[in-house]
Amino acid sequence: MTRQSPGVDHQKADPDTVAIRWLGHALQLLDQRRLPVEEHWLTIEGAAGVAQAIRDMAVRGAPAIGISAAYGVALAARGANNKTWKREVRTAIDQLAASRPTAVNLFWALERMGGVLEQCQSRTDAVSRLADAAVTIHREDLAANVAMADLALDAMKLEKPCSVLTHCNTGALATGGYGTALGVVRKLHSEHLLKRVYADETRPWLQGARLTAWELARDGIPVTLNADGAAAAIMARGDVKWVIVGADRIAANGDVANKIGTYGLAVLARHHKVRFMVVAPSSTVDMSLESGRDIPIEERDGDEICQLGGVRVAPENTTAFNPVFDVTPADLIDLIVTERGVVHTPEMTGMHGLFG
Ligand code: MRU
Repeated sequence: MTRQSPGVDHQKADPDTVAIRWLGHALQLLDQRRLPVEEHWLTIEGAAGVAQAIRDMAVRGAPAIGISAAYGVALAARGANNKTWKREVRTAIDQLAASRPTAVNLFWALERMGGVLEQCQSRTDAVSRLADAAVTIHREDLAANVAMADLALDAMKLEKPCSVLTHCNTGALATGGYGTALGVVRKLHSEHLLKRVYADETRPWLQGARLTAWELARDGIPVTLNADGAAAAIMARGDVKWVIVGADRIAANGDVANKIGTYGLAVLARHHKVRFMVVAPSSTVDMSLESGRDIPIEERDGDEICQLGGVRVAPENTTAFNPVFDVTPADLIDLIVTERGVVHTPEMTGMHGLFG
């Protein structure tokens, strides 16, 4: 598997896993629907293909969605007509924005790309400027992840190695490289402060089983996979000191939308006196929303619950409810770590101090 994207310096973080490669004329995505069975790369040459890959979750994870969409905008300029290029790229931005609703990184990246577009004088200018802007977004995300891992480690003030529990996949596969919550796990491991990471399997899409277990094992990081329902029993054993998760959108009061099941983990963590940390770049913060109640929560097809790997596990015609994110109230969160700094016991004032 190729380990680097042209134009993006992965050396600093030294990630083993890369899920997004920019070829200049096309975008390559490691198809996350096929992992861990197969490492299959999709080559996409237009914005519509990128929007489809996001919708179908060939690429997923809030930062990776934003980065891919940015490359999608760059591809739209390449494929556009010399006369109607600006209108075509604007349409592509709208198309990409309609792909998934919850991860604000998508809209953040598209707004930034739209700003660059408005400054372009010709299609040729747009082709080069939009590609540069997308590479910058990609590169900045990787740098933010490395910075967040350092900040998180300081904030944890660990005196000896401990075990942690995580949910979903927040690693190199979900980001521009290295990872958010899994970036912290990588850092803990490299500093010999990690005994073990428990990875929730993360029903129904199994990001934990299929992606996190795969990604961490490749790096030799001790990972134990558990059923989501085992998290309470694992915390009760006392070995886990931190739950570390990522985010898809953080509201101005510190409420956090993340993969379905995160809220339940936060309740469990509080009961067991396990600390709860959210790690996300500032591109995940949405100060325009007062609280988590305002965050749009994606609902996906019930078949994702009624089937497993294409095999039906529930009776035909079962009615299923499949919200794929939930909102963890800020008062259940001990730390929000971003590359701009750490918000302790998040609430409106602390959030405004860093992001206002
Ligand atoms: O539905 P997904 O797989 O895109 O959801 C991903 C998550 O919920 C992640 O925890 C979140 O995006 C943070 S990734 C660094």
